[in-house]
Amino acid sequence: MKHLLGTNDLNRKQIEAILEGAQYWAERPKEQSDLLHGRFIANLFFEASTRTRFSFEVAEKRLGAHVLNFSEINSSATKGETIYDTLRTLESMGVETAVIRTGHNGLLKELVMQENLNMNLVNAGEGTREHPTQCLLDMLTMKQQFGGLNGLKVAIIGDLRHSRVCSSHMHALPKMGAEVMIAGPATFMCEKDSIPKEVHMVEMDEAITSADVVMMLRVQLERHAGMLFPSREDYHQQYGLTLERASKMKKNAIIMHPAPFNRGVEIDGKLVESKQSVIFPQVANGVAVRMAVLERVMTGEMIGGANKWEPSLEMAN
Ligand code: CP
Repeated sequence: MKHLLGTNDLNRKQIEAILEGAQYWAERPKEQSDLLHGRFIANLFFEASTRTRFSFEVAEKRLGAHVLNFSEINSSATKGETIYDTLRTLESMGVETAVIRTGHNGLLKELVMQENLNMNLVNAGEGTREHPTQCLLDMLTMKQQFGGLNGLKVAIIGDLRHSRVCSSHMHALPKMGAEVMIAGPATFMCEKDSIPKEVHMVEMDEAITSADVVMMLRVQLERHAGMLFPSREDYHQQYGLTLERASKMKKNAIIMHPAPFNRGVEIDGKLVESKQSVIFPQVANGVAVRMAVLERVMTGEMIGGANKWEPSLEMAN
């Protein structure tokens, strides 16, 4: 039994194997498989989502699985049923895998410690610390653009403190040999002790001009305890990817964003679909990565993956 809890648990070889497995599907965007034919997967999203929710569903259907979409508001969670009891209930019906998005840091780790729960758990974004499939799809996109991740300079810019994408990348990218820079306003800086020693804090100018990958992060207004900057326009001018800043990027540098994006806040709307932007290819890769992850957790193998994950994996139950 296996899970995908976070990039913190993955080593380089395991990440490479998933990227390899995902690249197989990325090259076959219309291919359907019956690998998970007749098997049940439930998607439980306790926070809003468009990309992750639908790309998991597309991935599950392309692998032939039966898909159940949990709606918190129409469920017995409104009567106080816990997520543990919800999962035990689904498991009793024959659901094998739960794809979970939650606002609670560490919830999935708590769930896999429950000895009576025998489902595969896949993290679809948890609190402010982990969004492993977003991180993997970003890495796949970078690899497709540059041929590899080793030596790549990646600048992650913006609302770092509230970003689970940034947190997952700070664990994963250095393992792949990439150099990670972070930049943003002091009010959005991560807690010092959460920044790995390999990650550098830099000024905006250095981030923009020296990076191969400029990854802008959404200003997560819904997680802010008040207005943390004077105005959207002010934020855009000081910390956004303006047209002027984008003109200072390296010639072959790319623009990434996990989305949803606030046009005119962290990124100029014209840059979203510019030649340098790979924002929509990132979305496409989300399906491929999620297919590879589901294959791996539910079958132990990946059609396109030559490597096997190691049995010593911390994710193993
Ligand atoms: N990037 C991302 O997680 O988007 P959603 O919130 O729409 O899933």
